[in-house]
Amino acid sequence: MIQPEVLDILKCPSCGGLELTIGSGRRPDLICSDCDSHYPIVRGIPDLVAPESPPLPGSYRTETLSNVIAGIYNFVAPVMSLAIWRCSPLRYVDHENRALGRARGGIYLEAPIGTGLALAPVVADHHDALILGVDKSWKMLFKAQKRLSKVSLPFQLVRADYSNLPFRDGVVRSLQSLNGLHGFTDRVSALAEFHRCLEDQGFFSGSALVRAQTDVADVVLERYERYGIYPMLRSTEFLLQEVRAAGFDDVSFSTHGAVMFFSGERSDATLNQDFSRPAV
Ligand SMILES: C[S@@+](CC[C@H](N)C(=O)[O-])C[C@H]1O[C@@H](n2cnc3c(N)ncnc32)[C@H](O)[C@@H]1O
Ligand SMILES: [Zn+2]
Repeated sequence: MIQPEVLDILKCPSCGGLELTIGSGRRPDLICSDCDSHYPIVRGIPDLVAPESPPLPGSYRTETLSNVIAGIYNFVAPVMSLAIWRCSPLRYVDHENRALGRARGGIYLEAPIGTGLALAPVVADHHDALILGVDKSWKMLFKAQKRLSKVSLPFQLVRADYSNLPFRDGVVRSLQSLNGLHGFTDRVSALAEFHRCLEDQGFFSGSALVRAQTDVADVVLERYERYGIYPMLRSTEFLLQEVRAAGFDDVSFSTHGAVMFFSGERSDATLNQDFSRPAV
């Protein structure tokens, strides 16, 4: 069942109302007191994708693809990381460790969580965070649930769209988006949502596939883009400029093969500043 501390930070993705309560009955929904939207809870995971939100072009395809690859993701992702992207899977674990440490006593949000592949191995008793994981694919969420059910910390998975997160403003202390940016159909909205949900000086980190690092990776990325698997693959500089323009300070990065890892802090100071046009 959904814990009270999770209910306290939820926001209705349809109307923005702050009071979501658990209905009665054998299979209760989450109900918004303001607009009366009902959000089903499936195997303990609330479905907080706004029912009336217009689907972005390509989003059904992304969701279907994610559902299809969920079954093999845990095997395929590390192999591809080593063989094609030329990045040790251990780097993800390392990055995860750092981001989880930055949640220290607050809320840690992984968006998207996928199957929880990099997160589950690093969660330890000494961490003191409430873990939230967001994804739009049910199959990915169920895999993550199975994996995370073995960890010692409290966690809550939520089906949601990262372009319309069902969380109140400023409630997240550390937000991790591994393998995220390059797959966002609408990066501006997703980054704006991350900024909104993070507390002031909250920690934002993640990774993305980037172009122009290795020839083999570029060939594969070219195919990904052509077949619409990932919509907007760009250079490291381009992505970093977007992150800064979304209101993140002290952004640092490192690239390992075709994978760029970055981190920064939420700030109001840089939000909407006129950054020079990023290079493609
Ligand atoms: C490449 S996986 C990365 C998963 C995980 N972070 C990792 O590195 O293992 C990308 C994930 O993004 C999710 N996703 C795609 N579009 C989404 C959206 N609009 N909102 C939430 N999740 C989405 C997919 O379902 C998929 O699980
Ligand atoms: Zn509502």
